[in-house]
Amino acid sequence: MSKKTKVAVLVSGGGTNLQASIDKVQSGDLPQVEMVKVISSKEGAFALERAAKADIPTAVAKEQADVLAELKECGAEIIVLAGYMKVLDPEIIRNYRNRIVNIHPSLIPKYCGKGFYGIRVHKAVIEGGEKESGATVHFVDEGVDTGEIIMQEKVPVMEGDTPEDLAARVLKVEHVILAEGLKKAIERLEQEENK
Ligand code: GRF
Repeated sequence: MSKKTKVAVLVSGGGTNLQASIDKVQSGDLPQVEMVKVISSKEGAFALERAAKADIPTAVAKEQADVLAELKECGAEIIVLAGYMKVLDPEIIRNYRNRIVNIHPSLIPKYCGKGFYGIRVHKAVIEGGEKESGATVHFVDEGVDTGEIIMQEKVPVMEGDTPEDLAARVLKVEHVILAEGLKKAIERLEQEENK
């Protein structure tokens, strides 16, 4: 197999998406990935504990300049936003064009953009009377949730769903497609590098 790609993961919270990716790296399902750092925007985020348990170096960076410095320092080639609650500085996006991947808990272009995060997304989907929702993995550009879509998967919205019910159903799908989307992003990077 060709060399592993250095991946940094940006988090803000519980980190179940991070955990799903760590599990896949450890089980050999993501053999092309080396997780080089987990960077949190918040101190005390449980995601940091998950990373430490997997022996992945961690950092807390509240300022975007510090995030960029951490990314440079660990030599990240691809960055995954896994429940990262901040909008990235254009400076970081310029440095990592088509190398930053985000997971969003709706079927973009629906229920995304400013104000659509966390449980608010699922509340809006239910209030909108949607019959289906899902998750999207996409590249990050200067907009909010506007970058090129890498992959999506749908889930049904059931009669009587609470936002929490729907969030849990979507989260399961997120855990699967984040890894698949990451693989695709790495393939694309390799193609570009071989040009
Ligand atoms: C996920 O729903 C993700 O799509 C959103 O925030 C949530 C984070 O969950 N951006 P976790 O921290 O990975 O558990």
